Amino acid sequence: MLVTSKEILNDALKNKYAVGAFNVENLEMVIAVMEAADEKKSPVIMQVSPKTVKYSGLDFSYACIKTAAERVKIPVACYLDHGTDFNIAVQAFRAGFTSIMIDGSKLDYEKNISLTKSVVDVCHANNIPVEGELGKVLGKIGDPDEINYTDPDEAVEFVKRTGVDFLAVSIGTAHGIYKGVPKLNYELLSRIHEKINIPLVMHGTSGVPDEAVKKCISLGICKLNYATDLRIAFTDGIKKHLAEHPREYDPKKYGQAGIQSVKDYVKSRIDISGSANIF
Ligand code: 13P
Repeated sequence: MLVTSKEILNDALKNKYAVGAFNVENLEMVIAVMEAADEKKSPVIMQVSPKTVKYSGLDFSYACIKTAAERVKIPVACYLDHGTDFNIAVQAFRAGFTSIMIDGSKLDYEKNISLTKSVVDVCHANNIPVEGELGKVLGKIGDPDEINYTDPDEAVEFVKRTGVDFLAVSIGTAHGIYKGVPKLNYELLSRIHEKINIPLVMHGTSGVPDEAVKKCISLGICKLNYATDLRIAFTDGIKKHLAEHPREYDPKKYGQAGIQSVKDYVKSRIDISGSANIF
């Protein structure tokens, strides 16, 4: 069942669990996430990044996710991840996406507010919830000295002035593969959660140890974003299959190995997030 992420994440906030938001980059990943969440009876978010939009198009991604959502009873949201500008955000919800992230975190504070609010105004008029980002979650560097942490007081003002439904916070995670074990600032997360009563989002969850993820959920994280580990799982599954069957040439056969590998990974993440058997 295709829904917006508002009902999914507000229930998570109320009942203190989190929901996985998995970046899907091809048909096989959509199938894997759908089957994993369905078997676990968990709500799920399927996300598409602007790079995937370039690869396959908003319409193609939406059609795959919508078809998957309609095959199952669990709630599935179709989410634009890291929308870079107003146009892509509007194009995504016009294509049918049921949730939008607008990422103005590279801009200065006032410009981030104005971009985010412009997207919220359009999306809310169409009942589509919006995620904003304040502070900057690093990409592929993971150097703690370079992290631009979210300021709790700015976050209160940001939420008030933009009207965002969910807030991505920078507390020490980074996108991509970590160099060492990420050091998360729980004290900061707890201060943000005390001041803001909306679902908080963790980016860069691939590679964050299970205990750290659980602690963050207890401190208000309701949406856990995973991309890198799905790519690794998919590619490893296919590599293993092709190593065992070097003469294989049928994409359905090695594709199935990729699906199974992603599915096992997603199920393990659903267990950590506490969203199994919610539906
Ligand atoms: P990872 O690639 O580190 O899992 O981050 C994903 C993410 O935050 C997508 O928005």
